[in-house]
Amino acid sequence: MPIRPGSWERWKREAGYPCALPRAPLIAHLLREGITRLQSAGIEEARLDAELLLASACELPRANLLAHGSDPASPALARRFRQLLERRASHEPVAYILGHKEFYGLDLMVDGRVLIPRPETELLVERALGWVRDRSPSPHPASSSDTRRLRVLDVGTGSGAVALALAANLPLEVSIVALDISAAALDVAQANAARHHLEGRVRFVQSDLLAQADGPADLMVANLPYVAHHEWPALAPDIASYEPRLALDGGPDGLECIHRFFVQSPAFLAPGGAIVLEIGWRQAEAVRQMAQAAFPASSLDVHQDGAGLDRVVVVSPSAKAPITAVG
Ligand SMILES: C[S@@+](CC[C@H](N)C(=O)[O-])C[C@H]1O[C@@H](n2cnc3c(N)ncnc32)[C@H](O)[C@@H]1O
Repeated sequence: MPIRPGSWERWKREAGYPCALPRAPLIAHLLREGITRLQSAGIEEARLDAELLLASACELPRANLLAHGSDPASPALARRFRQLLERRASHEPVAYILGHKEFYGLDLMVDGRVLIPRPETELLVERALGWVRDRSPSPHPASSSDTRRLRVLDVGTGSGAVALALAANLPLEVSIVALDISAAALDVAQANAARHHLEGRVRFVQSDLLAQADGPADLMVANLPYVAHHEWPALAPDIASYEPRLALDGGPDGLECIHRFFVQSPAFLAPGGAIVLEIGWRQAEAVRQMAQAAFPASSLDVHQDGAGLDRVVVVSPSAKAPITAVG
């Protein structure tokens, strides 16, 4: 029903405004309150996080929040926002609170069962896509001009981030298998595949590293746990207290999983294939040695992330080199 001219003014008068009005905060006031609360809890990106949480509580895109700054917030909205704020003030990551995170253009569901995909890992996807592109003489890698079906393994798939980003960007002929030891993580990955209509593109298999991989792969991509025990106390509480330890803990030197992976991989990498692996920023030399022990004639390229830190290695064993398993 349209509000008649003057009726709002009359309502305010009759209701004894401003005294009788509930002290409804404005959206802008809630935002300010949120920033202050998060700052006092030691959250670094207090403004950004408060905006994201408030936008979620308002069910608005973040970009539209400021345009609604002078709108009154209902008590239910204020309550909802304060609940989200308290979770963030306890250092729960924003992505878990909101339940999703963008990775390589895909909006992925995330919760405490999986690592939150990181922007650095997009470099792993870039390198993997680059390897497929460089390998194929045709502009459509592995299309009909490439008679062989390319086989890709994503080891330690977590939310499915890497496997799904590859599936979304590679031709249909490429077969992709995603492995993880965690059944709970695989449930999330499968839900993400369905969310992006990619369920027919990636096969998910529970496996301790390559134990359940069936047959050789042309490309193996992996972002395995690589945090060393001595690094644990320095991890932000957002990570150490909320993300799955199984996704992070790389053993005493951070390299336990990666070492086991290199021991297993010669039996699974097809001749002419490659490995694209995310590493910790001080691990390139140790990983070079592991790669050479596994593939004596391999070459290894190290790629830096946006912060200039070693982050991704590409191991290209020579197609002619004998493939030997190491113990
Ligand atoms: C660092 S997370 C990476 C997740 C995802 N690939 C990404 O980049 O966001 C490591 C993943 O490896 C899995 N993982 C740990 N140990 C494993 C093992 N022995 N075999 C297979 N997966 C393992 C964890 O469950 C976790 O999902």
